[in-house]
Amino acid sequence: MSTPMRQAWDRFAREDARFFILTNPHSASEADFYAQGRETWDAVRGWIESVAPGRLKSGAALDIGCGIGRVTRALADSFDAATGVDVSAEMVKKARAAHPQGKPGFEVVSGSDLSPVANSSMDFVHSAIVFQHIPDWAAIENYIREVGRVLRPGALAALHLDTRRLSLPAKVYRTLPDFLLPRHHRRFVRRVPRDSALVRSAFEASGLRIIAEQSPDSDLHWFLVEKPDHSQTSAS
Ligand SMILES: C[S@@+](CC[C@H](N)C(=O)[O-])C[C@H]1O[C@@H](n2cnc3c(N)ncnc32)[C@H](O)[C@@H]1O
Repeated sequence: MSTPMRQAWDRFAREDARFFILTNPHSASEADFYAQGRETWDAVRGWIESVAPGRLKSGAALDIGCGIGRVTRALADSFDAATGVDVSAEMVKKARAAHPQGKPGFEVVSGSDLSPVANSSMDFVHSAIVFQHIPDWAAIENYIREVGRVLRPGALAALHLDTRRLSLPAKVYRTLPDFLLPRHHRRFVRRVPRDSALVRSAFEASGLRIIAEQSPDSDLHWFLVEKPDHSQTSAS
């Protein structure tokens, strides 16, 4: 099914994937782009190890909204297997072309669920600079439920959301039609901040426990969550 969201990101992928992924007017070289992905993952991994030592397992990792595999490539070096999923078939095509050896793997998803991924099959789920672009809160809520479904009991997910509070002028700016806006502020690529409390309640409703948060109420708000292992709880 082709949705406006998929059509937009397919167009961005064809036009200039690296520019629209990082919205950097000086589009990074391919080598810099993947080096930045490694830095992103090193920073996230360092944070996880500091707040939840020994909790990251090797095994299978999933990258939601992987684009052309900027971070997925780095995940593939830390885990036995890594898969990136994305709503855009064009992004997935380019991701596969950039990784001709087939590792990591890449799959197209609907834009609100993880249906190619089996229940309780993932040892880690990651998502960076993706949920901030999804205009439909119900889709994000469903992704959070899906993270709960695909994680193995006891496994972790590190998910980034933009939870800034927007000023009134910033809110008004967002109501302007696309043709008046620079290309990185147009619908689907512009960011849609979410209320932190709403995000926390979505994790709770999905049975995910928040272990730590980094930079709350900012454009780089990271949530580290776990799927509780109830067998461990009842045994102790
Ligand atoms: C800013 S890019 C980030 C890509 C990657 N996470 C990175 O850090 O390099 C956003 C990506 O999210 C994807 N995306 C947007 N909406 C999505 C959705 N509803 N489901 C899955 N992917 C989505 C886009 O196609 C795009 O590849």
